[in-house]
Amino acid sequence: MARTHEAGQLHAPGSSSIAYVPAWLTPPADVNELLPKLWARTVERGADGAVRVGGLSVAELAAEHGTPLYVLDEADFRGRAVAFRDAFAAAFADLCGGADVYYATKAFIATGVARWLAQDGLSLDTSSSGELELGLRGGVPGERIALHGNNKSRAEIEKALRAGVGRIVVDSLQEVDVVAEVAASLGVVAPVMLRITVGVEAHTHSYIATAHEDQKFGLSLSSGAAQAAVAKVLTRPELRLLGLHSHIGSQIFDMGGFEVSARRLLGLHRTVEREHGVTLPEMDLGGGFGVAYTSEHDPLGPEEIAGRLADIVARECLAQGIAVPRISVEPGRAIAAPSTFTLYEVGTTKDVDLDGGVRRRYVSVDGGMSDNVRTALYDADYSATLASRASGAPGVLSRVVGKHCESGDVVVKDEFLPADAGAGDLLAVPGTGAYCRSMASNYNQITRPAVVSVRDGVSTVLVRRETPEDLLSLDAG
Ligand code: LLP
Repeated sequence: MARTHEAGQLHAPGSSSIAYVPAWLTPPADVNELLPKLWARTVERGADGAVRVGGLSVAELAAEHGTPLYVLDEADFRGRAVAFRDAFAAAFADLCGGADVYYATKAFIATGVARWLAQDGLSLDTSSSGELELGLRGGVPGERIALHGNNKSRAEIEKALRAGVGRIVVDSLQEVDVVAEVAASLGVVAPVMLRITVGVEAHTHSYIATAHEDQKFGLSLSSGAAQAAVAKVLTRPELRLLGLHSHIGSQIFDMGGFEVSARRLLGLHRTVEREHGVTLPEMDLGGGFGVAYTSEHDPLGPEEIAGRLADIVARECLAQGIAVPRISVEPGRAIAAPSTFTLYEVGTTKDVDLDGGVRRRYVSVDGGMSDNVRTALYDADYSATLASRASGAPGVLSRVVGKHCESGDVVVKDEFLPADAGAGDLLAVPGTGAYCRSMASNYNQITRPAVVSVRDGVSTVLVRRETPEDLLSLDAG
């Protein structure tokens, strides 16, 4: 029987045994330690104990740009992008002449980032005309851009076709006709892929798992929608079918889901080629590769991911007796998340006694769920460190919370922060380069922080901080 109590479940008899500290979180031997897997590659503590990145101290960054601030390590972001590019090129070289990496812009995009990706030879996965626009502005050639989405507008499709995108990933039976009509109106042939729902339940939060059947994305393999869409595309001369696409979810560590997905996708690929007498030159296996947000996570590196996927594809193509199509993948988080930390200034702190003699310190910062909604939305875990100085104080169980009018406004659920951390200190939360600025809101009329990139002692604004005037300018009065 459920235990209840008028003051809340935590007060119910027997609840004192509830573990307040997650199993993976242990009090650190050194509260100033920066665990390398959580931080961008140039992050370190300087001689004064303060965190530095790209040759700049957090104090300098805060003084110049204010807080909260997303601080992006350019060398880290580009290094990961290039590592994915090279790992996939190498792993698939003998199978299909290499593989293409489409950076998923939904994780985070700005013109400056698109410019790096254009220079570094990556392609882009976009899901809206806004993402497409930033990619084009950054100089990524249209043919290296993909357009996704389960409900693309005709205007978005037209914009993509005018830009000469390399692929439109069609998500529904109706959309086959819409893309064909828009292509016909422009007098072009649209290169399309079909997003297939392969029926894999990825081991991740249900809100971000995307290839099980009961959700909005894709054409279901088991119900026959996928096969029907293939047949429909092949009847339209305005469409050129490049191949099949699957994305099984996000923040995935276990390669098993990719294996099942690739097998099912290649099975359909073979059936299509045999039954319709066509060659499908490409196949996209999606993104979703996990990153470390806390000490608990141990992600695979790009070389291991590429190698494992190449093994899977090689084995399946051999077993099914088919030529290997040109493979592509769409990592977003794995490139963007580790590159960035959010820098906050601490305000109030508050100690709360929990059952069983446990005490939790609430550390309020000057941002919150408006700059990082992932904790509230997905119950995501993050880490944090005192960034403006080193501390000799012991770690106390802390929860980093924002300034919004909502008790679920939590940034970091559980972390040991130095007992002397308090008002005026700077706190850094790593792993916020993906799905934080891109999902930021103006809740409570809070302005969204700037994103600055740092490299070799220079900081550059990629996205400027919003001003109260920006917000007021939307108000019709
Ligand atoms: N390709 C497609 C078709 C996608 O839908 C996505 C993510 C990606 C690639 C990139 O996935 P990644 O490598 O970044 O995991 N807002 C959520 C994540 C939603 C992901 C949506 N699609 C979060 O903050 O966890």
